[in-house]
Amino acid sequence: MAKKQLVVLISGYGSNLQAIIDACQAGDLPAQVVAVFSNRKSAYGLERARRHGIPAEYFPLKPYRNMGRSREEYDADLATRVAAYEPDLIVLAGWMHVLSSAFIHPFRGQIINLHPALPRTFPGTDAIRHAYEAFQRGEIRHTGCMVHYVVEEVDAGEPIAQAVVPIYPGDSLADLEARMHETEHQLLIQAIRRLVEGQEIS
Ligand code: GRF
Repeated sequence: MAKKQLVVLISGYGSNLQAIIDACQAGDLPAQVVAVFSNRKSAYGLERARRHGIPAEYFPLKPYRNMGRSREEYDADLATRVAAYEPDLIVLAGWMHVLSSAFIHPFRGQIINLHPALPRTFPGTDAIRHAYEAFQRGEIRHTGCMVHYVVEEVDAGEPIAQAVVPIYPGDSLADLEARMHETEHQLLIQAIRRLVEGQEIS
């Protein structure tokens, strides 16, 4: 089977990007990361990509804002740059910028996002902390993570895969974060494998 081409969008540490690169290199995923984009210059994930010889582009929103250009223009230009790598699948792995339809429309059904909460719970930023606090208040008994298709509504697209992450009394927030990230690394690879091996993407 021909390897599927992945473009990964990040904003930070890039541990999930690393999990993808490792799985590709180990032959666990019939895919290769052909480019990484970050909207933050300091994102360590850019360094991870470069170390593996993967093109890594820093593409910030700020110059657009400074020139009075819109978010949609930024998204459209980002789409053009991403399209140049001819991706089969675009993976948002810790990408902290809400994409408008200027980006989503040309790739609809080909963009997936990893979110550290279960479907219909804690959308947006700080989901792990929100779940942790809800547990402390006795409102939930566990949390989880999901990989879902990206739509215009934040963290609301159709789920592709999900996993429960337990919360234990006595957990610190850092304990929960560590457990979450470990689960995410596995779930993301499972979800990508399902898509690249299946018929869902062209
Ligand atoms: C993950 O928890 C992801 O779910 C969230 O941001 C984090 C990214 O971690 N959206 P990393 O940059 O892959 O280490």
